[in-house]
Amino acid sequence: MEIKYLILFFFCGSALCCDIAPAYWCDTEAIASQCGVLPACSDRLYPSYATEADPVVVGVYFECLCPDSIRFITNMLFPTWVKLRTTGVMKIMMVPYGKATMNRHGSGYNFTCQHGPQECEGNIIENCLLNETNYDEAKYLPVIQCMERSPQPVAAAEQCITRSGLNWTNINACASSVNGTMLMHKAGLATAALNPSLTWVPWITINGIHTDHIQSSAITDLLTLVCETYKGEKPRSCQHTKHGIGAYARRQRFSNKLYFRSRG
Ligand SMILES: *[C@@H]1O[C@H](CO)[C@@H](O)[C@H](O)[C@H]1NC(C)=O
Ligand SMILES: *[C@@H]1O[C@H](CO)[C@@H](O)[C@H](O)[C@H]1NC(C)=O
Ligand SMILES: *[C@@H]1O[C@H](CO)[C@@H](O)[C@H](O)[C@H]1NC(C)=O
Ligand SMILES: *[C@@H]1O[C@H](CO)[C@@H](O)[C@H](O)[C@H]1NC(C)=O
Repeated sequence: MEIKYLILFFFCGSALCCDIAPAYWCDTEAIASQCGVLPACSDRLYPSYATEADPVVVGVYFECLCPDSIRFITNMLFPTWVKLRTTGVMKIMMVPYGKATMNRHGSGYNFTCQHGPQECEGNIIENCLLNETNYDEAKYLPVIQCMERSPQPVAAAEQCITRSGLNWTNINACASSVNGTMLMHKAGLATAALNPSLTWVPWITINGIHTDHIQSSAITDLLTLVCETYKGEKPRSCQHTKHGIGAYARRQRFSNKLYFRSRG
């Protein structure tokens, strides 16, 4: 190694700067840039950058008292997040509103929710929670999970929020003020902007896209859907998905068995 550096320093004073065998060009960033091959060397020089890709954004348009939303959040979204949360593969964007409607009322809005006034109250609390945690899923998702798996999601809010170390006083103040109304209104606008429009709750988007196929894959196996969508190097947690290496190996062993049995 030292010898290589010596060669580099020795030659770099002159026009013969890149007079070193191509096999060494990717050894260091300095040589690569002197030899004009930095982009080509990036895989070797910066392996982590080379495999980095944007996280898959999972949009969840839901209602806090809707049984299908509750089932999806508690049985699919949260467990998938637990598996992927340290990998940077998935980013969650939750929008608590669903099929609610709004009317202008004075300077604010009135909402009507599919599952009654309690659901509006819960959706507003969750909108305030999202804002209060700066939309950081590591902070808000455990609270939403705690609420949604409770038989009374709205009544459970205070305890779930406090137990997560968040400030109930602030979130409750937001939810009981015009701020909560404005946040809910914003969620309503985001929901109304969906294309195609929401006809089912929870409504799932992947990188902003919704199709029937995406929806049914998300509902049945979100982990596989996210892992297959992710363009970077797959983390270990992706290896046991339906189409992952684990399943592939099992299928392979099984077909090997059949193969040998049929010959045997
Ligand atoms: C809005 O809610 C207020 C009470 O908060 C009620 O008096 C009013 O009638 C409602 N308006 C509409 C349009 O629902
Ligand atoms: C919540 O926040 C308020 C104002 O930011 C603060 O006065 C209060 O002590 C906090 N409560 C808890 C339990 O941290
Ligand atoms: C409402 O929002 C304003 C502006 O963002 C903020 O200053 C105020 O503290 C908030 N009030 C409540 C009760 O959350
Ligand atoms: C959103 O949260 C921030 C603190 O993170 C707060 O200052 C702001 O008032 C909140 N917005 C609303 C509309 O409550």
